[in-house]
Amino acid sequence: MSHRWFPKPVLAIESSCDETAAAVLDGPHILSNCIASQIDVHRKWGGVVPEAAARMHVEAIIPIILEALDEASVSLGEIGGIAVTNRPGLIGSLSVGTAAAKSLAHALNIPWIGIHHLEGHIWSVLAGDPDFSGDAVTLIASGGHTELVRVKSFGDCQILGETRDDAAGEAFDKCSRILGLGFPGGIAIQKAATGAARSRYSLPQAKVGPCEFSFSGLKTAVSLLAEREGANLVPSEAAAAVQDAIAVPLAEKTIAAAQAAEASAVCVVGGVSANLRLRELIQAEADRFGLHVLLPPLSLCTDNAAMIGLAGSIRLAKGQFSLDEEDVSSSADLPGLE
Ligand code: KG4
Ligand code: ZN
Repeated sequence: MSHRWFPKPVLAIESSCDETAAAVLDGPHILSNCIASQIDVHRKWGGVVPEAAARMHVEAIIPIILEALDEASVSLGEIGGIAVTNRPGLIGSLSVGTAAAKSLAHALNIPWIGIHHLEGHIWSVLAGDPDFSGDAVTLIASGGHTELVRVKSFGDCQILGETRDDAAGEAFDKCSRILGLGFPGGIAIQKAATGAARSRYSLPQAKVGPCEFSFSGLKTAVSLLAEREGANLVPSEAAAAVQDAIAVPLAEKTIAAAQAAEASAVCVVGGVSANLRLRELIQAEADRFGLHVLLPPLSLCTDNAAMIGLAGSIRLAKGQFSLDEEDVSSSADLPGLE
């Protein structure tokens, strides 16, 4: 069954971590998707500094909203509803986007809806197929989360399992730092690994439950490898070994979970779904078992506002609006569990 979309243009805002993002959507059509990244500032510290992130959101939020409206050629007066990430994330960062959404909704006398960041990631696949009902096992793999979710339909999902320790993106970031490849680590490791068809190094994969992951042992193994090899370490092959130690269990367990759940499709979303090796592995495994694969376009893998607008437009069309007193929250509970 295809989704019902909010009949007027929706402004979407995302500021849960280190990207200040705004988008304008007309139903499932993404008219603009603008991002002000703070990566260059956080790179100096090797990670996101929450206090600095919140202050930079304050500077960037109005310009990015104006840029998104301008690029979409939609005026503020034409916006019919606002969707904003209000949970989970860095509280100071979430507050900036949510305050902007609430103020604008008040001034324009239109509804606003607070969206769970992971609900946005889950439905980012609608950018490629707006009619996709959602019947899938979805792997959410980002800097803060790694979980397998059985999605039945919009608002109906169940967590099958998650990481016991580090998230997959966090593992990429930490291993990249150990190997001196830079921040953020996912793209740095992918670039370094390009061309290394084989790796002379083998890194361990954790033995945990079928829908669980564990990546904390990997950074210890990478530290030991770097120490042992010293100046002889071949960075491209070390990067390829790290990439496979993360991507192979992600792909294999997602496909196995989809088969066990008798889902007709697999989705991979979140920042790590931008990883080309993971995309290739998922596609190859899914082809073997006749499963349909949905992946977000590369621009919607890492944090963005368009995905918040896709989920927000569906909720607004259902008449679900947030109340004035609704605030930000660090709660990670997914709305489908309601
Ligand atoms: O979804 P996201 O933008 O933010 C969170 O909600 O956490 O994910 C960011 C994470 C970072 O850890 C980053 O290293 C990882 O996604 N990432 C990648 C790639 N691009 C981003 N990991 C592997 N390969 C990539 N190409
Ligand atoms: Zn995210």
